[in-house]
Amino acid sequence: MKARVAHIFAFSVFPIGVFGQTWCNKNYMSTEPVTDPGGRFPIPATSSSPLLALRCGPAIRPYLPEDAAHSSATSPVAILIDTPITFSEIANAVPITLGAGTLDVTVSINGKKLTSGVVPLNATKHALPFSLSALKAQKAAYTITCSATFSNQKFSATGLLTYLPDPPADIGSVTKFDARTGALLVRPLGGSKTAPFEPVFPIGFYTGFGNYLQTNFSTALPELKSQGFTVVRLLDVVHPIPAFSNITALDEVLDKMEEVGLYLMYDMRLTYMNDTSVTEQVNHIKSRKNLLLWYTADEPDGTSDPLNATLLSANLINSLDGGDGLGGAGYHPVSLVLNCENYEFTAYASGADVVLQDTYTIGNNLSFSTVWGTPCTDGTDYGDCGCDNCHTGFPDISTRMEEFRQRIFINGWELTKAVWAVPQGFGNETYWPRYPTGREWVLESILGINHGGLGVVSWDDPTTADVKASASSLALSLVNMKSFILSPVATIRQVTFQSGIDVGLWTVNGQTLVLATNINAQNLSLALAELHLTGKVEQVFDSGSSVSSDGRTLSFGSAGSGGFIVTN
Ligand SMILES: *[C@@H]1O[C@H](CO)[C@@H](O)[C@H](O)[C@H]1NC(C)=O
Ligand SMILES: *[C@@H]1O[C@H](CO)[C@@H](O)[C@H](O)[C@H]1NC(C)=O
Ligand SMILES: *[C@@H]1O[C@H](CO)[C@@H](O)[C@H](O)[C@H]1NC(C)=O
Ligand SMILES: *[C@@H]1O[C@H](CO)[C@@H](O)[C@H](O)[C@H]1NC(C)=O
Ligand SMILES: *[C@@H]1O[C@H](CO)[C@@H](O)[C@H](O)[C@H]1NC(C)=O
Ligand SMILES: *[C@@H]1O[C@H](CO)[C@@H](O)[C@H](O)[C@H]1NC(C)=O
Ligand SMILES: *[C@@H]1O[C@H](CO)[C@@H](O)[C@H](O)[C@H]1NC(C)=O
Ligand SMILES: *[C@@H]1O[C@H](CO)[C@@H](O)[C@H](O)[C@H]1NC(C)=O
Repeated sequence: MKARVAHIFAFSVFPIGVFGQTWCNKNYMSTEPVTDPGGRFPIPATSSSPLLALRCGPAIRPYLPEDAAHSSATSPVAILIDTPITFSEIANAVPITLGAGTLDVTVSINGKKLTSGVVPLNATKHALPFSLSALKAQKAAYTITCSATFSNQKFSATGLLTYLPDPPADIGSVTKFDARTGALLVRPLGGSKTAPFEPVFPIGFYTGFGNYLQTNFSTALPELKSQGFTVVRLLDVVHPIPAFSNITALDEVLDKMEEVGLYLMYDMRLTYMNDTSVTEQVNHIKSRKNLLLWYTADEPDGTSDPLNATLLSANLINSLDGGDGLGGAGYHPVSLVLNCENYEFTAYASGADVVLQDTYTIGNNLSFSTVWGTPCTDGTDYGDCGCDNCHTGFPDISTRMEEFRQRIFINGWELTKAVWAVPQGFGNETYWPRYPTGREWVLESILGINHGGLGVVSWDDPTTADVKASASSLALSLVNMKSFILSPVATIRQVTFQSGIDVGLWTVNGQTLVLATNINAQNLSLALAELHLTGKVEQVFDSGSSVSSDGRTLSFGSAGSGGFIVTN
């Protein structure tokens, strides 16, 4: 979100009118005409007859030699098959005549069968186990071909399977992507080099370097760890602003992060289009044991960066990080954040495994730009109110999460990409006259999680003591809640009540995690019966909520949230 300050700053330096400036490709100054920004995600055409959109991909990216030796619960060796039956012309959808029969799927590499099985129609992530022993660990991803037959009708899909050698000495860690859940898997920090991979729920802040960590790291990092945060997103320090150019200081901070056990999300927003700089930085950072993932572009859609920029950058990073630079996995995934509601989603998101969304709605006027003195029209053609195409505040976050998830599905990317949320943790600037309260910060985060978010990384720290305390409380509770949210066997539901209570439910082995938040500034309650739940309730997270004495009703204060485990 740094770019948003930058584009305002640019105008105090260059006289207005010297060059055109847009946000999400829209004009936003009163002197400029209304234009069509274009770049909207195409709505797939509908079909009057059913279509099958076959998709397939490995459960885990990348596999390692240890996975060939022994399959583990967290890194199962399997190909996942999706067989949505749809009436939309989504990626790889072709007509199917339904009726009696079975869908027989064969997965092969270079014409050689890897695995096969019967897959139900309209299945999601149906696993076909296979053995890695027939394959050689290598940098280049294998192309898998998935062929399916249903009463003489033939279907086909392809995917990439990455089976990498053990990391060389200059690679310090491996982060896997679990396509069953979209979660990232890591070995616990400080544990043995062969410890099993475990899912991590990344929660933390973009953390200021020059204004915070560079001077405060020795006390700040242990404190962040004790507050339950798992990840620190650190801005690239190798860019032209001298205050950020001290590599020795960066290394000191990273050493301490490793020592206390915090994961690093390494941010190259200012340099991601400079191949020389990216190469230097990736080569410098990739030996870090606590590197969780790379982060390239910050709101490239806002600034209309070249449409090929994020993919070119991701491919370069991947090729330096053990991958083939052609779409196969490297030793760490790549992430970026999109700010626009609907501008060139496919082009920009193609360059990331993890797509974040930063829908900021705290304090800003969503229909009239307080910075530019112009309306933000309800269509998609004009204005910048600090939240693109936002209308209702908190629900805009849910909408954005669902839209991104839907587009990922339409593009056939559901086995390879995840969405994370960036809750607003700042205020008192430009469009946003105030900070969120701690409860509001939690509310934003829970909307993200309930609508599919598998990581929460807020802009930005330092923030208020209230936000920090609430964020810490959520982070500490996630230690328990993540076993539901990241479970590959969870049955997941999401319900938004008319009252304004938004609920996510994850059921695992007869226990249900209920994560709920009240988007209104009034007290509300929710009977467990409305969620079709009976059983004993235990509250595991409290941000302005409670359970009634008879254990049947959940109550929420203004912007209150809670986490509850219901055991049948
Ligand atoms: C396929 O599954 C989706 C999502 O679960 C469901 O909404 C849809 O009705 C199913 N379609 C068919 C043809 O079974
Ligand atoms: C950094 O440390 C100084 C000295 O302990 C403290 O006054 C300051 O509040 C800290 N800054 C932040 C952002 O925590
Ligand atoms: C860079 O940081 C190191 C460690 O904090 C410090 O000793 C050194 O003086 C700094 N160098 C410059 C040029 O600021
Ligand atoms: C790209 O990065 C290199 C290495 O840091 C630097 O020397 C060069 O000036 C950068 N180029 C631009 C155009 O900023
Ligand atoms: C990326 O796109 C730009 C135009 O935006 C073009 O000039 C450049 O050649 C493209 N680069 C590659 C490698 O395709
Ligand atoms: C937004 O700004 C418009 C125009 O100044 C004003 O009429 C409206 O009340 C404002 N809305 C909010 C929620 O502040
Ligand atoms: C808000 O920002 C202004 C200008 O940067 C600053 O002077 C003021 O102290 C800030 N107020 C709060 C409460 O942070
Ligand atoms: C909400 O409930 C709290 C605690 O029971 C109470 O203090 C507060 O007045 C109530 N607020 C409203 C708007 O009813």
